[in-house]
Amino acid sequence: MFAMLRSGQVPVGSFGGSCGNAPVLSFRATRQNWRRVFIVMRTQKEGNHAPQMDPLRFARLAAEEQLRQASGFFQVMSTRRTVRSFSPEPVPFELIETAIKAATTAPSGANQQPWRFVVVSNPEVKRQMREAAEAEEKEFYHRRAPREWLEALQPLGTDWHKPFLEIAPYLIVIFRLDYGLSRDAEGQEIKTKHYYVMESVGIAAGILLTALHMAGLATLTHTPSPMGFLGKILNRPKNEKPYLLIPAGYPSADAAVPRISKRPLAEVLEVVS
Ligand SMILES: Cc1cc2nc3c(=O)[nH]c(=O)nc-3n(C[C@H](O)[C@H](O)[C@H](O)COP(=O)(O)O)c2cc1C
Repeated sequence: MFAMLRSGQVPVGSFGGSCGNAPVLSFRATRQNWRRVFIVMRTQKEGNHAPQMDPLRFARLAAEEQLRQASGFFQVMSTRRTVRSFSPEPVPFELIETAIKAATTAPSGANQQPWRFVVVSNPEVKRQMREAAEAEEKEFYHRRAPREWLEALQPLGTDWHKPFLEIAPYLIVIFRLDYGLSRDAEGQEIKTKHYYVMESVGIAAGILLTALHMAGLATLTHTPSPMGFLGKILNRPKNEKPYLLIPAGYPSADAAVPRISKRPLAEVLEVVS
C-alpha cells in the first residue's frame, strides 16, 4: 500500500473497498474544502490489498451450557428496572469505568465508535445539570409536551423534579458523534462522515446499562427534553450531541418502581421458518 499525502496532512482515517483487480480509492473530503481532499491509493499487488485478519476467539459451548447461560442472562436482565430514587452512597469508580469499557466493545457502523462517555461526580457540576434539566423539564411538562405524550408518561409518575441528578453518585452522559472532527497540521478542521450513528450508540448504551446492572448498580435512562444544555455545561466539542444521561448508583432504601409489564414474547416475536 502507498499513500499520497500532501505535505502537512495528517492521515486520520479513510474508507474504501475493493473492486475486482482495480486499484482501490479511499477518500474522505468535505464539500467546502476540496483543498484538503485526502487520497489514499492502494495497489492491488498480490498480498497487499487484503485487510489484516486475526483468528476469531470463540469458545464453543456445550448445548446445555448455552441454554443455561442464555436463561441465566434472561433471569438477571428481567430484574433490571429504571430507578428514579437513588442513595447518595458512594460507588467505586472502577465499576463505572469497567461498565463503560464493556460498552466500548459494541459493534458500530464501519467500526467508527461514534460515542463519548462523560462521567460526572463533581457536586457543583451535578447541581448545574439538575438546574438546567429541571428548567427544561418544567417547560416540557407544563407547556411543550403534547397531551398524548403526557398520557403515555402518566403510568410512570414522572414530573419535572429531578433530585436524582444531585443524589446519584455518578451521572454518565453519552454523546453521539455524528461526524468525526480533527485538525490537519495547519490547524484546519477535518470532518469525517460517520455511518449508522444512532444504531451504534444505541447498542453501546444498551451494553452499558446491562453492564451496570450486572455490576449490581441501578440506573435511570434519562432524556431531559431537550438536552442541548449538557454539551454546554460539560464543554463538549461541536460534533458531540447528547444522547442519554444515565444516573448510576445504588437505589435508595425506599425506592419504588411503577407497576408496568413487558409485552409477552408471542406479541413481539415472529418466527419465519
Ligand atoms: C430512550 C429512553 C428515554 C427515556 N427517558 C426517560 C426520562 O427522561 N425520564 C425517565 O424517568 N425515564 C426515562 N426512560 C425510562 C423509561 O420510562 C423506562 O425504561 C420504561 O418505563 C420501562 O421501565 P423499565 O426500564 O423499568 O423496564 C427512558 C427510556 C428510554 C429507553
